[in-house]
Amino acid sequence: MTKMIREEIQDDLRSRGFSRRQMMRAAMMFGGAATAFAIGPEIAFAQPNQRKSLVQIGANECWTGPLAPGLAAVASAAAQSNRYSPNDERGQLIKTISKVEKIPEDHVMVWPGSNAALAKTVLAYCSPTRGVVTADPTYETVGDAARFLGAPVKPVALKADYSHDVKAMLAADPHAAIYYVCNPNNPTGTITPTADIEWLVNNKPAGSVVMIDEAYIHWTTDYPNNSVARLAAAGKDVLVMRTFSKIFGMAGMRVGYVMARPDIIKKVMMFDDGITVDLPIPSIACANASLTAKPLIDQRRAELIANRTMTEDFLKKRGLKLIGPSHANMLMIDWKTKTAKEVKAAFLAQGVEIARVFPSWPTVSRVSIGSKADMEGFFAAFNKVVAA
Ligand SMILES: Cc1ncc(COP(=O)(O)O)c(C=O)c1O
Repeated sequence: MTKMIREEIQDDLRSRGFSRRQMMRAAMMFGGAATAFAIGPEIAFAQPNQRKSLVQIGANECWTGPLAPGLAAVASAAAQSNRYSPNDERGQLIKTISKVEKIPEDHVMVWPGSNAALAKTVLAYCSPTRGVVTADPTYETVGDAARFLGAPVKPVALKADYSHDVKAMLAADPHAAIYYVCNPNNPTGTITPTADIEWLVNNKPAGSVVMIDEAYIHWTTDYPNNSVARLAAAGKDVLVMRTFSKIFGMAGMRVGYVMARPDIIKKVMMFDDGITVDLPIPSIACANASLTAKPLIDQRRAELIANRTMTEDFLKKRGLKLIGPSHANMLMIDWKTKTAKEVKAAFLAQGVEIARVFPSWPTVSRVSIGSKADMEGFFAAFNKVVAA
């Protein structure tokens, strides 16, 4: 099995103390199982055979497709898809990211979404003795990848204001390889102050990295001031992850990017297995045209905020406890006396798909914010399921 990976990688894994059995797991993550991690929790949940519902507010997707300039770019790129790279689309996207994020081009790596990049970073940095610290609850890919590999995982409860407890995270494992901060956090939509992230970056152990997952950052009104892309540009030990799967409405197109120092990118790229260079040109062209469409991004954010406020008002009027405040396209509701599992099944029976269960909060459900019509569908189901 270990023949599946190059000598150089085998040596690297051996030097980190992986056993033969764990090296087989690493080989699986390098190849086939990487695909499983690329199919992250939201995608797995959104598999077509599970999507029988009319209102799909379970997977934190955008309620609508790509922005208009993105769709126009797809059409043009698709028409030239007889060529592998008709207009250096990949190079153009990296240039655009570099301009928008104010970061050198060699600090940017484009990936097919960010799940694969999250999992491959675990493969690049963790060992049987140095693992990951995450919040609890948070997006699961990083913890799942580390567990699969046999690296230690320390989940740390969010603070009372639902931000990451960075001091407790460092205390939980002062020798971890990766500290994962999801900002805004999935599933809560809550924000961790950039000062706290900087504290973690300045106090973490040598040889480790802080991975900041900004999948939902464009939904926040403080963007770009609350992004820590500038820490990557400044050459700190960070990886800042972005995806086009959320506000840009491109989950099915599979584009994301990582911002980090070139040596960090090189280390992760050892485990890339070629997937990053094989991105479909129409997807890259769509991402490139979408990233600079600021007025349309602002318009989409305003629509989200209106629909989220409407949903919060509806739930608060009915006396429900909301986790938050959420700054992203999701809300969490604490049912107190019902389990998230039973509520999810009851909503599904009404044709409304809400999120999977987050085990550490068994009475709390996550609902993604969709279109006005989606949320009205949710209210109608709520009246039958909860208020009945
Ligand atoms: C926090 C977070 N990070 C990363 C991802 C991965 O997204 P993708 O692989 O579609 O880029 C998701 C998807 O829901 C997410 O919620």
